[in-house]
Amino acid sequence: MEKEGTSQNHTHIIVFPFPIQGHINPILQFAKRLISKGIQVTLLTTNSTIKSMQPNFSTSIKIDIISEPDPFLPPSAAAIDVYIDHFKAALPSSLTTVIEKNHSLGNCTKLLVYDSVMPWCLGTARELGLEGAPFITLSCTFTTIFNHVFEGKLKVPLQEPTVLLPGTGIPRLGLHDMPSFISNPTLYASLLKILVEQVSNFQQLKWIFCNSFDKLEEEVVNWITSQWPFKNVGPTIPSMYLDKRMNNDKDYGLSLFQPNSESCMKWLDSKEIGSVIYISFGSLATLVEEQMEEIALALKKSNYYFLWVVRESEINKLPQNFVQDTATKGLLVNWCPQLEVLNHKGVACFMTHCGWNSTLEALSLGVPMVAMPQWTDQPTNAKFIVDVWKVGIRARIDHEKGIVTREEIEMCIREVMEGERGNEMRRISLKWKKLAKEAVDDNGSSDKNIEKFVAQLISS
Ligand code: UDX
Repeated sequence: MEKEGTSQNHTHIIVFPFPIQGHINPILQFAKRLISKGIQVTLLTTNSTIKSMQPNFSTSIKIDIISEPDPFLPPSAAAIDVYIDHFKAALPSSLTTVIEKNHSLGNCTKLLVYDSVMPWCLGTARELGLEGAPFITLSCTFTTIFNHVFEGKLKVPLQEPTVLLPGTGIPRLGLHDMPSFISNPTLYASLLKILVEQVSNFQQLKWIFCNSFDKLEEEVVNWITSQWPFKNVGPTIPSMYLDKRMNNDKDYGLSLFQPNSESCMKWLDSKEIGSVIYISFGSLATLVEEQMEEIALALKKSNYYFLWVVRESEINKLPQNFVQDTATKGLLVNWCPQLEVLNHKGVACFMTHCGWNSTLEALSLGVPMVAMPQWTDQPTNAKFIVDVWKVGIRARIDHEKGIVTREEIEMCIREVMEGERGNEMRRISLKWKKLAKEAVDDNGSSDKNIEKFVAQLISS
């Protein structure tokens, strides 16, 4: 049994996530795992991120600051280049400060674990005498696809309506299953470049960490581990939900949005088992007003209880009177404690944008999904949710209207909540829940990967 903060030695590492919620959560959780195995960890992040730490954040992680672009903007797709250039310039001095601070405490800083979207961190780390290892916050499949683009084996724009990457174990993908940066390269040119570049130095690395688990993407993992020193360390879900090793490890500890925890959980407690639909589109996606209306009207028509996360910046897109009209059926919040919600017995269905964290969380907690991917990796995750893991149904876009209609959404909701397919998904979901738990439990595949890495690091 491990104890949080038990220090085996003075081995120290620095972790540096890109400051968006979906990237901070898994990297922070990985850091907590390393701390539980005796490694000392400093989280290097911006002041605004630190301000978002929950007051009850209780782990022995150290915190250090990297300056942020001025003026501070939440990093959107458009601003990502600005962020990256800024961090490129600021990283050497921030790292030097952390290394020196730790040196004076008798610690030896050996490694920088950096977000894989910033592959240039490797060079900076090595110039300062550290090893570098990327942390991929997305799936092995996603990484494999971008490697094929990098090596010129997959041409962008796509030449064919469907794509098969032989030998990788990835099923044939249609255009609508492809990451949006590939299906729509003109719109996302800078992001496409960043994601292709992330694999550019893989050959030089000793460790590559990924938030997935071996059984989940089994064939793809066989392929990827034959290419590089790839180590799945996920699902990086707080351990209270999976292995109970660290009982106080209940949330990620850092939320860029303020959750309405008490009201959500109280409301859910008042509902019957398996009676609620939970809807969230993560921290970044923005829906067009017409799409919000279709979702709202489908929820109203379905007549199920629903808990819908609508971020403050999206709230004006709701139809007039929707909140009042559905007051007896629904609860709308700006942000919620998603893990607690998914873990609640009242929740039977998750309508999701299929962000990688949300996907892993639903799989790990055994909740079937209605997949409504918006962009980035989400279409590919949706393909796997439906056709490979068989724990969800995809709400299809009406190509004439360019959105998913209320009829389609209602049909998907009913299929999960009351159809035979829904029952089957619930049965299969329990299998994934068990496999996710096994991966992070003592001697599970992800746990062994972490143990092996820690032993190598300490002896290096
Ligand atoms: C981004 C990308 O959009 C996504 O495609 C990629 O896979 C990861 O990075 P995001 O859109 O925020 O992430 O989605 P997701 O990966 O699902 O991460 C959201 C995180 O916020 C999850 O860990 C989820 O538990 C948490 N969350 C979400 C909350 O805690 N409360 C909420 O109300 C909604």
